[in-house]
Amino acid sequence: MRELESEAMEAEFGTVAGWTEEAVRALGPGSAVPAGCRGSGSEGALRWLADRLELGAGSRVLDDGAGVGGPAGWLAAERGVRPVCAEPMHAAARAAHRLFGLPSVAAVAQALPFADRSFDAAWCLGVLCTTSDKAAVLTELRRVLRDGGRLGLLVFVADRPLPPPLPEGNDFPGEDEVRELLTAAGLGLLETSVADLGDSPPEWSARADAVDAEVERRHGDDPRWAEAQEQSRRVGRLLADGALRPWLGVAVAG
Ligand SMILES: C[S@@+](CC[C@H](N)C(=O)[O-])C[C@H]1O[C@@H](n2cnc3c(N)ncnc32)[C@H](O)[C@@H]1O
Repeated sequence: MRELESEAMEAEFGTVAGWTEEAVRALGPGSAVPAGCRGSGSEGALRWLADRLELGAGSRVLDDGAGVGGPAGWLAAERGVRPVCAEPMHAAARAAHRLFGLPSVAAVAQALPFADRSFDAAWCLGVLCTTSDKAAVLTELRRVLRDGGRLGLLVFVADRPLPPPLPEGNDFPGEDEVRELLTAAGLGLLETSVADLGDSPPEWSARADAVDAEVERRHGDDPRWAEAQEQSRRVGRLLADGALRPWLGVAVAG
């Protein structure tokens, strides 16, 4: 499997994903969705996107760059679909399967192991900003969606140069760049919004914090924990300063 774009990202999305699964098992299944969604959006953002994906009972749905499967698990519980998770980090792909019972494959978004037009809908949350190969990711998403299929995106966009220290390995696009890449990939943007990352139910934060505390208790002396914490602190600071915006978009495969 191809490596991610920095060691810090390997720690954050690989090693810590495995530790998160371990902690969720210790604390119980109620922690799985909140802890699994920590790296991306809020419940409000997931709901906004899900409402626009035109999902029905038998919809074939892809979660591209699914992490440990929190958003896919939420979608399965809330909308009665069974998303397929694709995620390059083996520990995370395994966790998505074990925690949520969802089909999960270890794959990078630039080379998805699915036939053309395999899915009615897809979402890709917090992934475009982790790779410089954005055109290939969107082209693959277009390929695996049926004509008229919907794509939901959460992208952390930067409209101006970001003040350091920056999270390692990220490549935050501008909103204009995302719009141009979508058009070039044959994906027509229908609607956009800005996520309110603070609008999850209070018990989500409490449960996610408890999972973090459990991971820290077990692995707090491992340097990869400190590294992953520093990565998310840096992203958090850029979001709090308004330098990064959590941009939501829904596009249709044309
Ligand atoms: C911020 S996390 C978001 C995870 C999940 N989508 C969520 O919303 O909770 C970014 C994810 O993108 C994955 N990722 C990074 N580069 C990728 C690529 N080239 N193809 C697919 N996934 C990638 C990482 O392994 C990580 O799981």
